[in-house]
Amino acid sequence: METLPALKSLYSHLHCSKSGQVYDKNEVQTYSLLHKPLVAQYQLGDFLKPSILEGRENTMWRYREFLPIEKDENIVSLGEGMTPLLPLNQLKTKFGFEQLWLKDEALNPTGSFKARGLSMAISKAKEFGIKTCVIPTAGNAGGAMSAYCAKAGMKAVVYMPEQTPALFKKECEFFGAKVIEVKGTIADCAQLMQKEKQTDWFDVSTMKEPFRLEGKKTMGYEIAEQMSWELPDVIIYPTGGGTGLIGIWKAFQELEQLGWIPKGFRPRMVAVQSDACDPVVQAYQKRIDYTPSFKDPRPTIANGLRVPKAFGDEMIMSVLEQSRGRAVSISDKQIQAGIEEIAQIEGLLLSPEGAAVWMACRELKESNWIGENESVVLLNTGSMYKYMENV
Ligand SMILES: Cc1ncc(COP(=O)(O)O)c(C=O)c1O
Repeated sequence: METLPALKSLYSHLHCSKSGQVYDKNEVQTYSLLHKPLVAQYQLGDFLKPSILEGRENTMWRYREFLPIEKDENIVSLGEGMTPLLPLNQLKTKFGFEQLWLKDEALNPTGSFKARGLSMAISKAKEFGIKTCVIPTAGNAGGAMSAYCAKAGMKAVVYMPEQTPALFKKECEFFGAKVIEVKGTIADCAQLMQKEKQTDWFDVSTMKEPFRLEGKKTMGYEIAEQMSWELPDVIIYPTGGGTGLIGIWKAFQELEQLGWIPKGFRPRMVAVQSDACDPVVQAYQKRIDYTPSFKDPRPTIANGLRVPKAFGDEMIMSVLEQSRGRAVSISDKQIQAGIEEIAQIEGLLLSPEGAAVWMACRELKESNWIGENESVVLLNTGSMYKYMENV
């Protein structure tokens, strides 16, 4: 069949991740009646070929058909996505990997992968005529939301834990956002936000609106495209709210539906957490399909991993199960060592979350969970330059 040249969204509807109930895509939606995430669905089939991507812009918007924005004029972009997939050749040789890659998300606008999700959520908010967006954040998502709101001419309100490095707060303020500091974790931020929320504020909390996931899934599309549509054996991802993990998996489901990757050859997905707050690891060890709320999380230098309870917890656990993956905890001490190791061997300064991913990878290789002939992709989700205060 002919390839379609049209750059039109194939977005068809939203459905509840638990019940499958369909929700009207033409109305502003948050989460389902069952209190579960809503997920965007597309009319996909093998009528499109990867060749449609040739010559397209080098951003996540190259996957235009598989993104939910109806009209181009609503796209709010700062050039996010198409980050490099770097070979880690020195580490590969030293630790005996067959193939070792790093998807370096630090190179996104505002220095983290949060740019992808917030570009999409703010574009959709613009499409719906929303004027003010609000977010509880561990830091990076707040900075990204503030930047995209500034670009879209919207107001931004950000709730951030007091303990977040000052630079994250300053960044939001530079973009004109109102920042409210909160004692405790991102969960306490969310609680206070709910109390103070005004009727015209649109809440873009992780997985409580459907479109940040659509931005994050582009990491999966890019990994597949950058590896010439041959997926790695293992993908290792630092998991807080889990949007990236769920999103990458969703991308692979969609790519299978498109016929761009073969069926049944998906990577094993690994969720990495800080041992200061590791609800996913505990649920994985107990073989339960949701995460009980983590009590009294300790501080950690990996701010993005201090999430006591993810709204999409069942979806995270389902990705780990479906992919035959696993969950791993890493200590701050290991993270510090990981930051220095990669910096000195590969010349890359990874965020604490990214360094946790590398240390988990080392452990999994040492225990032979990652085999001699396997290819591995690590996600560095943010820039270390924002965390200097932590180390
Ligand atoms: C650098 C970094 N990595 C990872 C995460 C966790 O991301 P997710 O919520 O997609 O699991 C965050 C969240 O704040 C982050 O800032």
